[in-house]
Amino acid sequence: MNLGILISGRGSNMVALADAVRAGSIPGAEIRVVISDKMNAAGLQAAAERGIISIAIERRGRTREEHEREILSVLKAREVNLICLAGYMRLLSCDFIEAYRGRILNIHPSLLPAFPGMDAQRQALEHGVKFSGCTVHFVDENLDAGPIIEQRIVPVHDDDTVETLSARILVEEHKTYAEALALVVSGKYETVGRRVIRK
Ligand code: GAR
Repeated sequence: MNLGILISGRGSNMVALADAVRAGSIPGAEIRVVISDKMNAAGLQAAAERGIISIAIERRGRTREEHEREILSVLKAREVNLICLAGYMRLLSCDFIEAYRGRILNIHPSLLPAFPGMDAQRQALEHGVKFSGCTVHFVDENLDAGPIIEQRIVPVHDDDTVETLSARILVEEHKTYAEALALVVSGKYETVGRRVIRK
């Protein structure tokens, strides 16, 4: 499987995936490119330091269609057949999703379907839940709503801030994403309705 990872910022999930690939924990996976929609994303540097081709394709000055077309052409040129969204903070169009139907993964910092969208950790704190976590799911046309591959639970402490809760969830995100990706790359799963079941 040739992976393309899309980021917008820090890129710690991308680094976790890159380190897992390098450690041999995701047999059959090769990261072919990291693409950021932000020129100054710290993750670009982190990818380059790991010898991964990393490219910024900014949205500025382009329509959404042009932006996505450019991303798709890079993914195609790099022969990418599986996309991992890792803190990529843009919604993908139906056309983009169609081009990689069932082959786009995302990580979200809550136990979906609770708290989709932006600021999931803040939403969890404000709602007063005692547990939150993270979810890796397939991407479909609806926001943070595709079939769930893997989830991890994280406790919410009484004295948590958005920062402390986010940090606790992030530790689990890194492990969960690598595990979910290993499952998808292995092909040892089937999707029954919305359920992703290990074979
Ligand atoms: C992560 O917490 C990820 O789950 C979240 O952004 C952060 C990116 O961190 N993604 C979303 O909220 C998507 N809706 P990273 O750049 O260090 O991986």
